[in-house]
Amino acid sequence: MSNKDRYQLWGGCFSEEPSAVLRRLNDSLAVDSRLYREDIAGSRAWARELHRSGHLSEQDNSAIQSGLDKVEKDIEKELSQTGRLNDPEEDIHSVVERRLHAHAGDAALRLHTARSRNDQSATDTRLWMLTSLPTLGAALKQLIEVLIKRATDELNIIAPGYTHLQRAQPIRWSQFLLSYAWGLRDDVMRLEEQMGRLSRCPLGSGAIAGCALPIDRTRLAWSLGFQDITPNSMFAVSSRDHIVEFLNWAALCGIHLSRLSEDLIIYSSQEFGIVRLSDQFSTGSSLMPQKRNPDGLELVRGAAGLLLGDSFSFTCVLKGLPSTYNKDLQSDKEILFRSYDRLLDCLKVTAGTICTMEVNSSRAIRCLEPGMLATDLAHALVRRGVPFRRAHHLIGVALRRASELGVDLQGLPHNEYVAISPEFGTDKELASLFSWESSVEQYSSAGGTGQQAVEHQLGALKDWLRGQPPCSPVPRPDETPYPCCLK
Ligand code: ARG
Repeated sequence: MSNKDRYQLWGGCFSEEPSAVLRRLNDSLAVDSRLYREDIAGSRAWARELHRSGHLSEQDNSAIQSGLDKVEKDIEKELSQTGRLNDPEEDIHSVVERRLHAHAGDAALRLHTARSRNDQSATDTRLWMLTSLPTLGAALKQLIEVLIKRATDELNIIAPGYTHLQRAQPIRWSQFLLSYAWGLRDDVMRLEEQMGRLSRCPLGSGAIAGCALPIDRTRLAWSLGFQDITPNSMFAVSSRDHIVEFLNWAALCGIHLSRLSEDLIIYSSQEFGIVRLSDQFSTGSSLMPQKRNPDGLELVRGAAGLLLGDSFSFTCVLKGLPSTYNKDLQSDKEILFRSYDRLLDCLKVTAGTICTMEVNSSRAIRCLEPGMLATDLAHALVRRGVPFRRAHHLIGVALRRASELGVDLQGLPHNEYVAISPEFGTDKELASLFSWESSVEQYSSAGGTGQQAVEHQLGALKDWLRGQPPCSPVPRPDETPYPCCLK
């Protein structure tokens, strides 16, 4: 179809065509064609409502309804074959209307009665979010399940825990895994909290002032699956707060994934060797044959920056905009889709990497050293009644003495300890403190790294997951299932 046959929803008072360069900047079909299902669903509901209000005949309504079915099928087929629509129109709203005209004849000319692309575009985007964001929730829950599975199976692996990336205290490997599971659980909850605000239908707000025809907006909203209507027509076409909220959420979720990635990148280095990434989630070097690079995790780590940038850039677009619709708002969809796709891929790569990596428990133990028990030694003194501040000082003195003698805390002879303080107890009592297992077992208070405390966390997370409604994520056409070790 040539450009001159382009169907334009405006232009009666124009005598010239828009310039090619303006069209390039203005046209949004390449992006918003992704909203075709929502646009058609909105149009079906709108036609029904026009009919009920007496502004669309029975015959025209049924021509529109069956025409829209055909338009949907055609678009679906074309997108699945070529991944894009080649129509000359500027956006998906114009494409649907022009194609509808071909099927439904002049009935199509009545569809846009009392509707504006301002309320239409806002409705399409909210609808798309309502159906798509649960897919992110499902991917998050799958990642949490992978973490729970590993944490359950690897409960007895003891690993070094770091603060400032310096050896701190021994911990259960599961405690490390669950530290991320809990953060991601909060991400799921935050995502769910957004859905109520999102689930308000702008349709019927027109361009700015509302709808002059007696339509029932609540019935319209419910028929589309919204919980409620937007309460003010100017707010309806103006607000993109739900998008900002989502982008901020995605950025925070990305930050969680980036920190998890960074930890695993460090643990997979030869210097640590605590984990080995699977072939499926590693890449090689074109020059150095021995290399196994954690590119997937690095991309996830980098993606957090890009998600943060998207959130920031769209917020900048909104800042200082005059009220209601301005074309600046059109960029909402490009950024929304980009962040959504990026985050979904990151969640899947992270889950796949964690699911398929190997954990080297003996290497983890070899990364521990007796200095990491210094805090436990101080606690042993506290149990004998020594004030903690003094105990901390005494262990510091023992560390200094050990360093003078060229030994570690475990190698420091008993008589040296007793010379520092008789409260260190007998040789046997002192020796019993140098056990990784009994070290982690002491941390038995809620949330700690002791076995029961970790099991309690596992139980609470599993209960939470069980209480979640079943997810039916919408698979993307290009999707290949990622390997999952879940039963
Ligand atoms: N493509 C536009 C968008 O998504 C549709 C709304 C156009 N409205 C207008 N007044 N030009 O933002």
